[in-house]
Amino acid sequence: MSRIQLFDTTLRDGEQSPGVNLNAVEKLQIARQLERLGMDILEVGFPAASHGDFLGVQQIANTLKNCSVTGLARAKESDIRTAYEALKGGIDPRIHVFIATSEIHLKHKLRMSRQEVLEAVKYHVELCRELFPKVQFSAEDATRTDYVFLAQVAEIAIQAGAEVINIPDTVGYTNPVEYGRLFHYLRQHVPSFEKAIFSCHCHDDLGMAVANSLAAIENGARQVEGTMNGIGERAGNAALEEIAVALHIRQDHYGTPSRMKLNEIAKTSTLVSRLTGMAVPRNKAIVGANAFAHESGIHQDGVLKEVTTYEIISPELVGVTNNSLVLGKHSGRHAFINRMELLGYELDEQEIEKTFKAFKSLTDTKKEITDADLHALVAGGKASY
Ligand code: KIV
Ligand code: ZN
Repeated sequence: MSRIQLFDTTLRDGEQSPGVNLNAVEKLQIARQLERLGMDILEVGFPAASHGDFLGVQQIANTLKNCSVTGLARAKESDIRTAYEALKGGIDPRIHVFIATSEIHLKHKLRMSRQEVLEAVKYHVELCRELFPKVQFSAEDATRTDYVFLAQVAEIAIQAGAEVINIPDTVGYTNPVEYGRLFHYLRQHVPSFEKAIFSCHCHDDLGMAVANSLAAIENGARQVEGTMNGIGERAGNAALEEIAVALHIRQDHYGTPSRMKLNEIAKTSTLVSRLTGMAVPRNKAIVGANAFAHESGIHQDGVLKEVTTYEIISPELVGVTNNSLVLGKHSGRHAFINRMELLGYELDEQEIEKTFKAFKSLTDTKKEITDADLHALVAGGKASY
């Protein structure tokens, strides 16, 4: 069974989130944890962007020993040579070179013809190949690029020595059916498709980054790019923890596991959130505070009888030590009694009746009932301990 490569860009595309600015120590701390999490490739910066970025990339490349470290470069000789200086000390250095390929970008940003772009791809990928053992090429704005031209660009990049061809949905424009079809198209129309690893890279502007990535995997992508907690430019990148858990839970469907150590997810998510200052929404899949919390009485009752009734992922799988049945106005007797027992109370029928009634009236004034509230209820009703 072939394993999907995880390309993490938390420290490059993720750091491009408005308001995020990590210092070198913080970047190294996150990089080490991402390595422990089992990422195959870490993209840790854009060395030509600033001297600080250069030093940060260099330090991480020289430190990590269990994953490949890469940095971004435009199809520009000075960017590529600067990236080489930053990355050359790594155990498995890789350059990630890109140029835009859509008409919109060619006309308004690059002011280049298609022919000039093809020549630039060939020239710069060949230069990368002289310097680096591994070259990844990205066709920026691939999903808004003419398919015939995109296939031509990919073929030229492979012929020039790129081992990985990335097909980014730069502006989060595509949808799963369309992105899947694009990979299918490339598989049929790039003569050297099988000689390279095709990679997907999705942004979340329309909320489809993870679904799009999974569609690409179903259609031949062998590398998936994204970030921890889905942070990144604008609405963010595909959340890699969601993809890895989806591949694990739905192995029956995808048949493509990853190397991610799932039980390191919670710790990694917390670290990234704390150091970037980007709060994780409570309801976010996998790492949100409510991801394993059941509030409704029917769900709580089901989970207490048999956990798989309402839980497809065990919290322990992703490193969360306990699931929380949040007690609130929808909670029923079963969840209430269970929590009281966990808190060490042995209540007889009468005491249960009394405290449960008090608990229910408290839920009219308070959204979430804490353990301290329950202790107070018992003390107020003078129930036995
Ligand atoms: O979204 C994008 O197109 C990128 C490329 C530089 C790969 O981040
Ligand atoms: Zn991106």
